[in-house]
Amino acid sequence: MARHLITSAIPYINGIKHLGNLVGSQLPADLYARYKRARGDEVLFLCATDEHGTPAELAAAKAGKPVAEYCAEMHDVQAEIAKGFRLSFDHFGRSSSPQNHVLTQHFAGVLYDNGLIREVSETQMYSPTDGRYLPDRYIEGTCPNCGFDSARGDQCDNCTKQLDPVDLINPHSTISGATDLQMRETKHLYLRQSEMKVQIEAWIDSKTDWPILTTSIAKKWLTDGDGLQDRGITRDLDWGVAVKRGTEDWPGMEGKVFYVWFDAPIEYIACAQEWQEAGKGTDWERWWRTDKGAEDVRYTQFMGKDNVPFHTLSFPVTILGSGEPWKLVDYIKSFNYLNYEGGQFSTSRGRGVFMDQALEILPSDYWRWWLLSHAPESSDAEFTWENFQTAVNKDLADVLGNFASRVTKFCRSKFSEAVPAGGTMGPREEQLIADITTRLADYQTQMDGIEVRKAAAALRALWVLGNEYLQEVAPWTTIKTDPEQAAMQTRLGLNLIRLYGVVSSPFIPDAAAQLLADLNASDAQWPADIATELTALPEGHAFTVPEVTFRKITDDERADWQSRFSGIRS
Ligand code: 2FM
Ligand code: ZN
Repeated sequence: MARHLITSAIPYINGIKHLGNLVGSQLPADLYARYKRARGDEVLFLCATDEHGTPAELAAAKAGKPVAEYCAEMHDVQAEIAKGFRLSFDHFGRSSSPQNHVLTQHFAGVLYDNGLIREVSETQMYSPTDGRYLPDRYIEGTCPNCGFDSARGDQCDNCTKQLDPVDLINPHSTISGATDLQMRETKHLYLRQSEMKVQIEAWIDSKTDWPILTTSIAKKWLTDGDGLQDRGITRDLDWGVAVKRGTEDWPGMEGKVFYVWFDAPIEYIACAQEWQEAGKGTDWERWWRTDKGAEDVRYTQFMGKDNVPFHTLSFPVTILGSGEPWKLVDYIKSFNYLNYEGGQFSTSRGRGVFMDQALEILPSDYWRWWLLSHAPESSDAEFTWENFQTAVNKDLADVLGNFASRVTKFCRSKFSEAVPAGGTMGPREEQLIADITTRLADYQTQMDGIEVRKAAAALRALWVLGNEYLQEVAPWTTIKTDPEQAAMQTRLGLNLIRLYGVVSSPFIPDAAAQLLADLNASDAQWPADIATELTALPEGHAFTVPEVTFRKITDDERADWQSRFSGIRS
């Protein structure tokens, strides 16, 4: 049995995520995890909240709460919404967990022992008005790389360049707006990424099957300017992982914490420990230590493009530089951005549709289908309400929902609520079996290759084949002259619904489970031989006509939502 370790980029704790965040990591990761489980593989699917750093401190201050309390509350909020979207994490951890603190300090210790961390006395931005140093998001200014005027101290949102606060042009404090900033001397730790450049480059070069988006971003940061730069991994903050070498204090680093991007990816590992300690599994090292069985694991990471430098460069430096047998990622699936109605989704500006709002309007399957079938893979994509309405109405209501409804209702009205007996398959049915076999193979190829949009198109094509068959053989006409033949056609239709229930479950888990439950076939397994699968429901097998599987979105609803979500979320 193949074993898959799957992680989604861990969302910042500060607030509820929008649909663009969802489709950039958690949702496609869930699709893949569900698919691999359905194929019978062993899967460990992990995600967590990213709780340290300035985003957490700033959001807690805004909410008027102690940061630990704020994070605990927001973790539960995010966990609940993830459940609403049916994200099937085996564990949803917290980067602030004790396990992550210990592991982060452990990595810092071994990296130091291996000569990969240096201490640097440097000048830092100090704000007399605020009475503190201003790391990362406490400071904004113009990007020295692209000229964007709201670049943050750690990264420019416009060109994705990783920055240090002192790089910014015309910097100001985001706490007070103060511009009277001073440069002061202080000691910090740097990860000597430059030492590992050759090794990292060779590793990236060996990944010839990775998406171009992933490798092109990695290559850019490896070769631009002076190449892979050393990176500051400590900050002057109260909230975070205290700077230590393993369990030892680090002289001169009192009162400092590790930079959030140092400890966040380490949480992928700590999360497996949390999973075990929560009693959900055993032997976490089997997934993470190549000396304890993880050499057989295939590890896939999912993330938005802005996260790629940290996962292709910084985190691998941590893993490889430790010299310890940790599992290194095998495949990095990255995504472009999803835009919203002609502009950008924005958490800070409250623009777009947020995950909690989406679930208030429609069940998760509607969103899952649209988002995955329009995933921003080869380029940025755009959410518009019109497009959403069209895709839901056409794909889900007209194609899949309509098929299930027509077949089951016809059967109930002309036969009974049980699979009808009689008739034998002919050339048209053989053709259908051949077509489904080909399409299913295509669907599996796309799913195995994590080609999300192509997989959605292949799944839709499977649904279409059933509709075309039904339309062509028209059992409602056949029954007038040949009831046996009509029974066979209907029986085949019912078996197709069962097949759709199984293969659609990674995309639309609730609707798929409901269809299978209505057919009394909840135990159905992933199809192997299609001819056998399409006779799986035997004659006389009872079923229930499904409630409406997918309803249509009306023009009024669409217009209403369009105007309701045109403004800014307060
Ligand atoms: O972009 C983000 O939302 C980050 N919190 C992702 C971190 S992923 C990882 F490294 F843990
Ligand atoms: Zn920039």
